[in-house]
Amino acid sequence: MMIRKQSMFTLSSLGGAVMICALVLLAGCEKQSADGPILIKFPHVTAPATPKGRAAERFKQVVEERLAGRVKVEIYPSAQLMSDDDSLDGLAFGEVQMIAISLSKLDRLTPKFQIFDLPFLFPDLQTVEKFQASPYGQELLTSIVDRKLLGLSFWHNGMKQFGGPAPMRTAEAARGLKFRIMESDVLQAQILQIGGNPQKMAFGEVYQALQTGAVDAQENTWSNIYSSKFYEVQAHVTETNHGYLGYMLTVNPDFWNSLPDDIRAELTAIVQEVSAWANEESLNINLAGKEKIIASGQTEVTELTPEERAGWRRAMRPVWEQFSDSIGAEAIAAAEAFGVQAE
Ligand code: LMR
Repeated sequence: MMIRKQSMFTLSSLGGAVMICALVLLAGCEKQSADGPILIKFPHVTAPATPKGRAAERFKQVVEERLAGRVKVEIYPSAQLMSDDDSLDGLAFGEVQMIAISLSKLDRLTPKFQIFDLPFLFPDLQTVEKFQASPYGQELLTSIVDRKLLGLSFWHNGMKQFGGPAPMRTAEAARGLKFRIMESDVLQAQILQIGGNPQKMAFGEVYQALQTGAVDAQENTWSNIYSSKFYEVQAHVTETNHGYLGYMLTVNPDFWNSLPDDIRAELTAIVQEVSAWANEESLNINLAGKEKIIASGQTEVTELTPEERAGWRRAMRPVWEQFSDSIGAEAIAAAEAFGVQAE
């Protein structure tokens, strides 16, 4: 059974927790009835027109064509069903069958995915893909099976940009700003490194936090900044491309292994096809998001010169050393080598 820092197990009343667990288990059992199709409930937090939203819809469409009547997929976007945090418990207890939370948010379970948060390690999505396809990346898919999380594939969102009250051509411009970050110790260290004040916060709370001034700044991809309308409540976005945001398409291993062999084999093939399609689309969706933000006229977009980007990289690079023991110096060097080839 999975135990997390902020899971339902932290409820003060043990009786309440037992009751919730029982209800969740009951709901999970009811949904997988013996006669009907196998149901895959897939909650996520971004809007439908994002890399993850489009990939999830494509997965549903292909599954329901090729496994018609045998498997049904229900997608719940925009945190309609549950937050990322709750979806980890939901997957463990069989309330949902598939999730794709950001790799950064796996930090609460294991330090193994921290490599994806190291600033300026991956210059672009092609480099991330090479690393994910390497033995280092492939090992990660099965690295937290004991926590009831089995990775089937990696999905990209894109590279992250910094949004805030002013352009950030240099890291000094970030000094003193309160930044919303995902729940990741590497991202926390990254913001501290540039003199900012990191605030870990759920995705669904970011718009309001920017609007009310609870935070001054944030980092996210063009598609998330556009689809969640962060650009309406921040005056500037600086195109730093300083880090990667991506997902692990994840199932509960018990659910996965309980599937009939032919269904599991077909789902595996579909996951591979949809992932290849989605990872190509992600770049276009992010570019379109950037263009729509510029066209809105609500946010000024600043592009960095190569020298300015190099300055940012120098400012943030010490974070790598801080995490070199927990991530493994060898894995970092391998990832860097893919990037050097790309540059
Ligand atoms: C975030 O919290 O900013 C992202 O994890 C949202 C997402 O799933 O892309």
